Amino acid sequence: MEDTVVPSPVIKVAAICGSIRKASTNRGLIRSAIEICEESVKGMQIELIDVSPLPMINTDLEVEGRFPPAVEEFRQKVLAADSILFASPEYNYSVPPPLKNAIDWASRPPNVWADKAAAIVSSAGGSGGRRAQHHLRQIGVFVDLHFINKPEFSVNVHELPKKFDSEGNLVDPKTKEKLKQVLQALQRFTLRLQGR
Ligand code: FNR
Repeated sequence: MEDTVVPSPVIKVAAICGSIRKASTNRGLIRSAIEICEESVKGMQIELIDVSPLPMINTDLEVEGRFPPAVEEFRQKVLAADSILFASPEYNYSVPPPLKNAIDWASRPPNVWADKAAAIVSSAGGSGGRRAQHHLRQIGVFVDLHFINKPEFSVNVHELPKKFDSEGNLVDPKTKEKLKQVLQALQRFTLRLQGR
């Protein structure tokens, strides 16, 4: 179903990918989410925020309350967003280092994640990333992110037929439909959280 009520102002979503691999399937999920949003989730805009330029977390790099330029830029983009869409693989049953690093930088005072709505999608090996999703939710408790609980969304990259092409593009229509439902839930929850 298309959304008939278009929220004003438009909800801005910062999309963060836990994989920095060129053909990342998780970045493919974000590309697909951007397309779906443009086509059929009116009133919401998704922007991919690249975490790869961030240095490894090190508080020695904070000088007189200032962060390195790449960190400042990242923090400003998170701050300007109404909500967050995380797309991440699972590494050894948890969140991968590029994602944890980004979360840690943006959590330094003042914590720019606070009070934002968030959704998690994942593409990974056997588990589809569900264990990493749970760890991310746990981290969210401390940084004051508010995650939607449902619909749950995870893709097992090994399952046939393949849901992604060799460049990491999502090609499966049913998975795209499920992704759209996540985006609609995130939109509704963001509006609720903001009292709109
Ligand atoms: C993995 N992978 C993985 N998968 C899984 O389901 N559970 C896991 O614990 C792990 N652990 C793990 C550790 C390390 C170091 C790597 C490199 C990989 C597989 C991984 O989630 C899978 O390859 C994803 O598809 C990678 O996501 P992108 O890069 O395609 O977005």
